[in-house]
Amino acid sequence: MNRTIIISNRLPLQITIDDQKLDVTPSVGGLATGLKSFHRDGDSVWIGWSGLTKEEIPDNLLPEVEKKAREEACIAVNFTAEEIDGFYYGFSNRSIWPLFHYFMEFTEWDADKWEIYKSVNQKYADVVIENYREGDNIWVHDYQLLLVPQMIRDKEPNASIGFFNHIPFPSYEVFRTVPWREEILKGMLGANLIGFHTFDYERHFLSSVSRILRHQVQFNEVSLPDRIIKVDSFPMGIDYDKFEQAALKHREVTAGKESELQRRLNHHRQKSPDSKLILSIDRLDYTKGIANRIRAFEYFLEKYPEYIENIRLVMLAVPSRSNVPQYQLLKREIDELVGRINGKFATVNWIPIWYFYRSMPFENLIDLYTSCNIALITPIRDGMNLVAKEYIATRTDQTGVLILSEMAGAFHEMNEALIINPNDFEQIANAIQQAIKMPKEEQVRRNTILQKRLKRYSVEKWADDFMTALERTREIKPAFK
Ligand code: UDP
Ligand code: G6P
Repeated sequence: MNRTIIISNRLPLQITIDDQKLDVTPSVGGLATGLKSFHRDGDSVWIGWSGLTKEEIPDNLLPEVEKKAREEACIAVNFTAEEIDGFYYGFSNRSIWPLFHYFMEFTEWDADKWEIYKSVNQKYADVVIENYREGDNIWVHDYQLLLVPQMIRDKEPNASIGFFNHIPFPSYEVFRTVPWREEILKGMLGANLIGFHTFDYERHFLSSVSRILRHQVQFNEVSLPDRIIKVDSFPMGIDYDKFEQAALKHREVTAGKESELQRRLNHHRQKSPDSKLILSIDRLDYTKGIANRIRAFEYFLEKYPEYIENIRLVMLAVPSRSNVPQYQLLKREIDELVGRINGKFATVNWIPIWYFYRSMPFENLIDLYTSCNIALITPIRDGMNLVAKEYIATRTDQTGVLILSEMAGAFHEMNEALIINPNDFEQIANAIQQAIKMPKEEQVRRNTILQKRLKRYSVEKWADDFMTALERTREIKPAFK
């Protein structure tokens, strides 16, 4: 296979500088965690943002930032604070992100931010072109870089370019509200292959292409005068073996050697053999339905008071995009909700919600996945949701119940979970009760099927399918040429 140039807004590593010292941490989010193993195992170079603005990098440290990235086969691109404000906190996360997740009321249209979005996309495309060698496959990722495929094509007309969108693509009726809808579609159509997580997102995209640009769309192909573009769905998987192996290793950790977090989790379990832990892990994002989840948990405690002192919601919310006002408001709302509910139900030896607002190292994620009896994943809208898949992969004894929103892309592959509508508290409360009472044999039956499927459709297979389909597009010639 040819070399791949991966390009995404965020690199899999984030660099921070404190007191002239560089610190490197892994990035959070499905794109980075998923694609990392493809990058690790293959012949690729990854272009993306270091996480720092130009103003934050002293001249003497710039070579070191570049070196840290190079050590991981990455090329760090840095932007000014103004660019990050207009491109990342602006058009990407105040316009595209809310609109594509159907939060139209949060969507802002600002022509200045759109201009910055275009110029940053152009900068990314320029870095790709500088590093491009004939024969490379170029793989552009996600909604921050919708214009990059065509910008590359303008300079390298014969390049093999794939584009993958990690978030939903909304229905035509929603997408048509974008003031710059033609430019965005044309930008994406610079690719030879466009991938989505689900068939619905693919269908919505094709419908927008045919109705807005009036291009000929047949099955999953878009015909331009000089090129044909393939559009398909590729549901992203996880590095299954990594999670399974980590969970197996975790089981072997002897008493006294476990993490502080694990000790606290064990303590909860030891208090009563019937007590349960419910897990919730997300970036703190309004699309994830975290506030609804807490309210539904409150409703559950009211409806089934017999579980008071015998159940706990363990909630990890990872700070995300905190310069965007909607995220700040959400943070406040969650803080208040957790405080109110803990105040309302707490007893002298129990509080209902353990709330962590931070990111956790991989080992602690494994502590949480392996210790919690139930995973409650209730996004209002989510492109895929890898946390749901990671939870199942770590359940090496096949126990555990996943409660999953039908609004997550992952739902299409995870029918054996308890499926809920995230706006229906009655249904969520009943699903929690059903999960608590579910016989072990039923848990094992459901998880065996899920695990088999997730193991087969791993992230490796996802990347392989996409790259194979991209390689194949090299052979497509328009019939009318
Ligand atoms: N994650 C992480 N550190 C944390 C919490 C979560 O690295 O402290 C990872 C998690 O393992 C998962 C990803 O972040 O791989 C979240 O991906 P998902 O698809 O669920 O949601 P996204 O954040 O991409 O919307
Ligand atoms: C989602 C998006 C990714 C993004 C990630 C984390 O998974 O699809 O493109 O990287 O969230 O968000 P952030 O804004 O921190 O990069």
